[in-house]
Amino acid sequence: MDNPESVQEFWDGRYRTGDTPWEKGFGAPPLAEYLERSTFSGRILVPGCGHGHDVRLLALKGAEPLGLDMSPTALAKAKEYAPAGKEDYLLGDLFQLDANLQGSFDGVFEHTCLCAIDPAHRQKYVKAVVGALKEVGELLAIFFVHIEDPDGPPYPISIDEIDELFHPFFDTIDQWWPNKAFSGREGREQMRLLRKR
Ligand SMILES: C[S@@+](CC[C@H](N)C(=O)[O-])C[C@H]1O[C@@H](n2cnc3c(N)ncnc32)[C@H](O)[C@@H]1O
Repeated sequence: MDNPESVQEFWDGRYRTGDTPWEKGFGAPPLAEYLERSTFSGRILVPGCGHGHDVRLLALKGAEPLGLDMSPTALAKAKEYAPAGKEDYLLGDLFQLDANLQGSFDGVFEHTCLCAIDPAHRQKYVKAVVGALKEVGELLAIFFVHIEDPDGPPYPISIDEIDELFHPFFDTIDQWWPNKAFSGREGREQMRLLRKR
């Protein structure tokens, strides 16, 4: 699945048929846990936002998040929810981000987008995130690791590979294993706060 139209059709089809096991109906518990003790504010890009639960969680805590997704069906659902704050949504492909959005975000929030992307495009993902951030910008990530099934999505990724992908472009501010998780993901997610170099 290399061309963007097939990728979009794949994801939109999953939402149209309700084949969305990742969709839990509320924001990621590790993000909620983080926002109880810290802030992640300013203009935040949330790539692969799906129904937008994380977007609204960030907005509730004062951020101005933009939820980006290539599935029109997912975004239509996201927009049905009552606004939580200053959130917005955009239909689009992270790999073809509009020129006016490049370098415009204080932060990027990653959750189940990287693991959804074909492993062959992981470096492209990192470059897209780096490109979206302002000169001074941070990536807050929930990396879904310890995925057993090799036939993704979600595609398995190791801690070593995460290091290799991000270390050339980011300094690690903090990394930890969150206490809270969706049922079944306990101990399988690592969080990192990374600052663009
Ligand atoms: C596994 S789902 C996770 C959705 C959401 N983060 C959640 O946890 O509910 C992956 C999402 O990424 C979106 N996606 C995949 N590739 C993308 C791309 N290149 N640009 C934008 N969105 C993408 C899909 O449409 C899908 O909504």
